[in-house]
Amino acid sequence: MRFLTAVAVVCGLFFSNFLPVVAESSQLVWPKAFKPAFLNVNLVRNINLEKAYIRETINVVVQNIEKQPQRDYFLPFPSDVVPNIGGLEVRDKNGPEKGRLRLELSEIDPSSNTQFYVIHLPEPLAPSSQITLSISYYILSALHPLPKAIRQDDRQFLTYSFSAYALSAYTTVDQKTKIKFPSVNVPDYTVTSGLKSGSDPEKQGSTYTYGPYSNIAPRKFYPLNVRFAASYPVLVCSLLERDVEISHWGGNLAVEERYWLRNSGASLSDHFDRVSWMMKASPSSAPLRVLKYPMKPGSVDPYFTDDIGNVSTSNYRPGRSGREAHLELRPRYPVFGGWQYSFRVGWNNALSSFLRKSSSETFVLKVPFLEGPQNPEGIQYEKFVLRIILPEGSKNVRYEIIESVNNGLPNTVQIKSNISKHRTFMDTVGRTVLSLSVENLTDAARDSQLVVTYDFPFVETLRKPLTISSGLLAVFVTAWVVSKLDVSIRKR
Ligand SMILES: *[C@@H]1O[C@H](CO)[C@@H](O)[C@H](O)[C@H]1NC(C)=O
Ligand SMILES: *[C@@H]1O[C@H](CO)[C@@H](O)[C@H](O)[C@H]1NC(C)=O
Ligand SMILES: *[C@@H]1O[C@H](CO)[C@@H](O)[C@H](O)[C@H]1NC(C)=O
Repeated sequence: MRFLTAVAVVCGLFFSNFLPVVAESSQLVWPKAFKPAFLNVNLVRNINLEKAYIRETINVVVQNIEKQPQRDYFLPFPSDVVPNIGGLEVRDKNGPEKGRLRLELSEIDPSSNTQFYVIHLPEPLAPSSQITLSISYYILSALHPLPKAIRQDDRQFLTYSFSAYALSAYTTVDQKTKIKFPSVNVPDYTVTSGLKSGSDPEKQGSTYTYGPYSNIAPRKFYPLNVRFAASYPVLVCSLLERDVEISHWGGNLAVEERYWLRNSGASLSDHFDRVSWMMKASPSSAPLRVLKYPMKPGSVDPYFTDDIGNVSTSNYRPGRSGREAHLELRPRYPVFGGWQYSFRVGWNNALSSFLRKSSSETFVLKVPFLEGPQNPEGIQYEKFVLRIILPEGSKNVRYEIIESVNNGLPNTVQIKSNISKHRTFMDTVGRTVLSLSVENLTDAARDSQLVVTYDFPFVETLRKPLTISSGLLAVFVTAWVVSKLDVSIRKR
């Protein structure tokens, strides 16, 4: 994003004078040995800025213009945007249930500032036939506050830079881009010149439309900038550790989550003034004030602690008869831009709602992959580590992630996993732990489920009672020996 950053800096200057940005079109360098075999007949891109991360969806009708069937569609991104893309998924628009199409990311070519994904179509596309691809992804860390620092009662504004043309390896016959802002308060946006007749963008409430543009050559780029009011915190979780611990013996499923959260929004230019903060009924700035945490029905014993200790300002509403429960977490202080907040949350559930026996010694566990707060502005996770702690003696552990459409999960190849042992009090061989770790995902992944299958031999069910009873026996024997000793000492 070197180029875009430069543009953003320039625009920053313009913005402060409230002038529209005058931008020129430019081209990204492209790998040489590439022959376009497709034509984008029609392309509609939606950019959603309602959350503190960006969600883009592109629906594109693609036609094979070669004489042979074609299987690989190239999807380019600027190289420095690629690491910030979360949950890229491509589906056949007319058969979304067939699942995601297989993707491959190109190598980084040092002579090019573009990287591309190769999308493998489900079947080779016959000459002159068409397929509609539905491409969706999140872009993380791409919204920047401007100004960078504001006063406690000031409104926060965020900027986003992108291209008027959806970046493509192919000629696009017709295309347009719709941008949805969080509100109608959009003080600055690029007005294009010479791209189309009439006003560009066209505004309708909080939705702005750039285009339609026709016959756009491949790789064309035209920088745009927008700056809009955003009265939400830009929540980034640098690390979430989530432990799910299973106890067959206690019939319990215990969850503990540890969050390292920060607000990447505009920071405070003055000191935080608590008194004036308390007096304002509805301040316009956007610190984090509350985290709303939905929980599975039947969740009990919730706790919430932060760096300082027990936090009493949490509020738990248990769900009645099979309904979701709600935990409301209020940090000790409003978390302004640049501030961090670390905390842990935990609770228990009856294991029977999550575990099923599939044969005499095989068990299937189904738990949410990610839970976490569900604030309207959303949360982006830079790193997420999930540990499933199974009973001692569990073997042959397999897992599968069941995703829903557009849930922001990265490709399964980006989910790293391993199996290790975890030893706690009264353990002998140690519990079997399945660890999964993922980078750069969003809270949209809340909708996916993790299914873990494992074997738990019957003899293992006896391990805990035997360990405990041999422990108790040792205590009794010791006590008995000590009492004997005592007696003999007193007698003397
Ligand atoms: C996640 O994002 C960070 C920051 O942009 C980047 O350095 C890292 O490579 C990304 N990780 C993956 C797996 O893409
Ligand atoms: C922690 O908070 C809970 C209520 O949320 C309270 O019952 C408990 O006594 C507190 N513990 C400490 C050590 O303050
Ligand atoms: C694999 O296990 C080790 C401990 O044995 C742990 O430190 C590491 O983070 C795990 N890796 C993943 C991907 O979870």
